[in-house]
Amino acid sequence: MDFEYEKKFLDDFVAMLKLYKPFLYQKINETGIIASLIGKEFGIEEPEYYLAGYYANLGLLGVGNYLQKPGHLNEQEKEVVKRHPVLSHEYLEKRGLVKCADFVYYHHELPDGSGYYKETNFPKEASFINIADVFQGCVSPRSYRPPFTFREALETTMKPYKNYIFLQKEEVDAIEKILKAYYETL
Ligand SMILES: [Fe+2]
Repeated sequence: MDFEYEKKFLDDFVAMLKLYKPFLYQKINETGIIASLIGKEFGIEEPEYYLAGYYANLGLLGVGNYLQKPGHLNEQEKEVVKRHPVLSHEYLEKRGLVKCADFVYYHHELPDGSGYYKETNFPKEASFINIADVFQGCVSPRSYRPPFTFREALETTMKPYKNYIFLQKEEVDAIEKILKAYYETL
């Protein structure tokens, strides 16, 4: 994998999103930034992890504008949105970014198996991206609600990790600090 090439490709893609899909740009860019901050804290040097933070929600391009729809999603719409990790995964695998595809596929799985696809065996990197993605969503406004406060966002995002089985307490504490620092930049 030529990281310099991939980084440039990603930057160009993100710049294009900013022009044509500002909502998705925000989702993808901010999730990428938060995931990178967490990765840095834990010394993750895998370049495909960096890319995965940004590409995780790429599949949202393939599910219409549901996230911007006024009001709550119905059950059928929710099922469509839940396909986005699979769509992102398909694209990345085709591009030969196999590890990245793997992190992305699992980015809505939770330690207790209550995630999108009910998986319980997945890389830790995927949960860091999950945390970045969920927190970004919580602190962003939706048509049917204002952004969560920092406390509400932290509680919603970190609750699945508070059994300290998948992540240790020190890891959870470190992540919470990162989220707080990030929130203060908003
Ligand atoms: Fe996502």
